[in-house]
Amino acid sequence: MNDAVLSHRDIDALGARAETMITELGEISAEPGRLVRLFLSKEHRRAADVVGSWMRAAGMAVTEDALGTVRGRWCDPDERTGARRLLVGSHIDTVIDAGKYDGPLGVVAGILAVDRLSRRRRRFAFGIDVLAFGDEEGSRFPSNLSTSAAVAGKFDPATLALADRDGISYGTALAAYGKNADDIATVAYSRDEAAAYVEVHIEQGPTLEARGEPLGVVSGIIGQNKMQVTVEGEAGHAGTVPMELRRDALAGAAQLVLAIERIARDDAVDRMVATVGRIEVLPGATNIIPGRVTFTVDLRAESNDRRRDAMASIKAQAWEIVETRGLQITFDPYHESTTTPCAPELRKLLATSIAGLGHRPFELPSGAGHDAQMMAHLCPSAMMFVRCRDGISHNPNEFASPRDMGLAIAALIGFIERFDPDRLEAP
Ligand code: HGY
Ligand code: MN
Ligand code: MN
Repeated sequence: MNDAVLSHRDIDALGARAETMITELGEISAEPGRLVRLFLSKEHRRAADVVGSWMRAAGMAVTEDALGTVRGRWCDPDERTGARRLLVGSHIDTVIDAGKYDGPLGVVAGILAVDRLSRRRRRFAFGIDVLAFGDEEGSRFPSNLSTSAAVAGKFDPATLALADRDGISYGTALAAYGKNADDIATVAYSRDEAAAYVEVHIEQGPTLEARGEPLGVVSGIIGQNKMQVTVEGEAGHAGTVPMELRRDALAGAAQLVLAIERIARDDAVDRMVATVGRIEVLPGATNIIPGRVTFTVDLRAESNDRRRDAMASIKAQAWEIVETRGLQITFDPYHESTTTPCAPELRKLLATSIAGLGHRPFELPSGAGHDAQMMAHLCPSAMMFVRCRDGISHNPNEFASPRDMGLAIAALIGFIERFDPDRLEAP
């Protein structure tokens, strides 16, 4: 029996279950009072175990790959599903002081969709894998999307040498988590196994709410550059060094931060955004002229060319500033992802499923990065956005209503019911 259309009661029950599960995950944090769950941490381990137990209860066989991604595999017990798999997932790591929906919603939606289809003995000519990625946010190491990159066969081994702020390398943390870096090559799906990837995620912006729509189809995911910048000057006595003789690393960095903001503001065409999210001033005493400043740059734009041009402008302006001030500067780029269009045939299927629930399918771009960006290197990939209150995200006030989450899971079920891997163009 086709399960594509669910009753309002079903939808509300799914939404209520999602809220309970997401709340349970949201309580697994490294810090009391705010949500912090970092990749390969004790909290990641606990969250992975909880997600694995939910996958098992939904009838899935659970494994973990060499980077800690939890995989729930659902097959037709009659084994008629063949090798191809529909991949459904998102991430269970968080930013610092996070909201509880960013990431977990996509994992919980996949689990609840499979749970319902499994209980109703639905059978498909493909299997379903639900994936819970661990390093989407890049909150611990200067990397991001590394675990989905590995699943897509794009893991950069140099990532293993990246260190967190305690000086612990990615590779050391991976070993402490019980994984063997030699197995990373086994993580990737083959192209003929991975038929498609779909991710359910809160919008993290105000558009759906402004349109009065609970769900939206993502047209594409914005490209981004991330880099660390270090400005070196000369530490000195705050009281005795005259202003004209100073080589103040923070004053130089501040001038560059404002130049970066100006470059993005001036590019009104292209939704370009630039953020300096973290800055460290050394030695960091009130009476010492800062000798060394390190800060991060996160630059995004819809056009890959304009984003790359903007990165070049940032560096050109940086050299001018440090020249004038007698400072030194180093750039450590650590991430670039190109603007990724979502697969047209999957967008159509998501739109049909949303319309099947009586809602207007509406397309919108994603200004946030997502694991789907990496998975698009492996197979046709698509995303469905869920309305979030006031568009707030990366903030403990992040909220998605149980009704909207129930609708998203119903739409995902409708997508799975309609999905036919034979009708996808080869990537
Ligand atoms: O930063 C992002 O866009 C995503 O939330 N990691
Ligand atoms: Mn996310
Ligand atoms: Mn996020």
